[in-house]
Amino acid sequence: MDSQKDVGILAMDIYFPPTCVQQEALEDHDGASKGKYTIGLGQDCMAFCTELEDVISMSLTVVTSLLEKYGIDPTQIGRLEVGSETVIDKSKSIKTWLMQIFEEFGNTDIEGVDSTNACYGGTAALFNCVNWVESSSWDGRYGLVVCTDSAVYAEGPARPTGGAAAIAMLIGPNAPIAFESKYRGTHMSHVYDFYKPNLASEYPVVDGKLSQTCYLMAVDSCYRRFCSKFEKFERKPFSILDADYFAFHSPYNKLVQKSFARLYFNDFLRDASSIEEDAREKLEPFSSLSGDESYQSRDLEKTSQQVAKCLYDVKVQPSTLLPKQVGNMYTASLYAAFVSILHRKHSTLGGQRVVMFSYGSGLSSTMFSFKLRDGQHPFSLSNIASIMNVSGKLESRHIFPPEKFVETMKLMEHRYGSKDFVTSNTDTSILSPGTFYLTEVDSMYRRYYAKKAGDTTASVGAVSYQNGSLPNGH
Ligand code: ACO
Repeated sequence: MDSQKDVGILAMDIYFPPTCVQQEALEDHDGASKGKYTIGLGQDCMAFCTELEDVISMSLTVVTSLLEKYGIDPTQIGRLEVGSETVIDKSKSIKTWLMQIFEEFGNTDIEGVDSTNACYGGTAALFNCVNWVESSSWDGRYGLVVCTDSAVYAEGPARPTGGAAAIAMLIGPNAPIAFESKYRGTHMSHVYDFYKPNLASEYPVVDGKLSQTCYLMAVDSCYRRFCSKFEKFERKPFSILDADYFAFHSPYNKLVQKSFARLYFNDFLRDASSIEEDAREKLEPFSSLSGDESYQSRDLEKTSQQVAKCLYDVKVQPSTLLPKQVGNMYTASLYAAFVSILHRKHSTLGGQRVVMFSYGSGLSSTMFSFKLRDGQHPFSLSNIASIMNVSGKLESRHIFPPEKFVETMKLMEHRYGSKDFVTSNTDTSILSPGTFYLTEVDSMYRRYYAKKAGDTTASVGAVSYQNGSLPNGH
């Protein structure tokens, strides 16, 4: 089989819980100084799962929605990869849960399992699918990638950097969102910045300051490698002016602002022509700092953010809508930043380049890029934006007071890893039709889900999805 052209993302959908808490109210509730979460971290709102939703239900919701809305026959999926760092079962993959959707149509011939490394698992899953379509083992069917996470932290400074979402991406050739595969820059290393060694708790152990520095070092390292690969193949220098948009893994918006400023500083150090004279003068005093010193310098941080601000507004700001509104979605975070660009700019993206930065603590990171084309219906950028309906989903959310959010976190702590309980059905009224939700965990830890009725377009007709039995009762 000839190698495939323009392999990438053909279609996307996003789901995030309708339950959220305002950062301003949380600031007040936590006794943090006014502005710390909203201006200091740059966050507006944070989504969270109640007892009804988890990473399995969110991925069932987003996959059935994508298949229905783009009219994809489930037998046409040949590979399904999931990225997640939210552990519900140490052995059974989330992917096997999703198989229920495909088994109903007689399709059990689907490769792929889950990938885990903090927020990077979704990118690993995406690369696996793209590589499969480009390989000699490709059988002509679609790949499907799911990023699904619920980001929750113990009480304390990290708690406002949570969030929750699931994203599904259909992979194939001739894609409107095509990989520029040759330009990948990767940086991987052993560090203890954020990790989950306590298997009895959903919460991570976080060295917040170290995680910020590790993230910025990874940005620098990946960017330098990305630039040198571009320069090797294109035989011309790369600077941030060669990309139309940047999407970053977004734990909170302030880190994204700092990351873009680091790219600008890198361009200055590499003497790229993109730097204007007055910015060059302002950055000159920092040119002799060692790498380590440059991460500690508050003056450099402030100055580089200030000189990069105009370009940030044009090239990064469009990606910040969902990460600011939903919070850190772990594996889905980078792709939600990209969804925000599609949402805001879909009609003008043809021919443009988006640079993506993926980071997962521990650590794994890659910078890569997409070249965009308008595409053909149903796989056109404007149809993808319309199907994802970001505004509608944001507007129909329910804002919970911080007390209710904290109460929910306490219940979830209690429920984590437990068995023999049923969930309360009273809150299903706030879920949209077609949303899957957890109903029960039995004495054998088997989980049972139901689909909220009312979705007349549903082609996956099962109402009760149960571990161990096919949805149509076989
Ligand atoms: N008004 C405006 N700004 C304020 C205010 C205020 N009242 N109070 C504080 N700030 C600013 C601070 O100056 C700081 O900004 P700066 O970084 O530009 O200096 C910012 O708000 C945050 O304040 P800190 O005191 O630095 O916050 P703290 O250390 O308490 O917590 C942290 C922040 C470390 C990010 C914490 O939320 C955390 O650990 N989060 C999880 C780890 C994380 O997300 N790491 C990122 C990469 S790894 C990953 O993706 C999971």
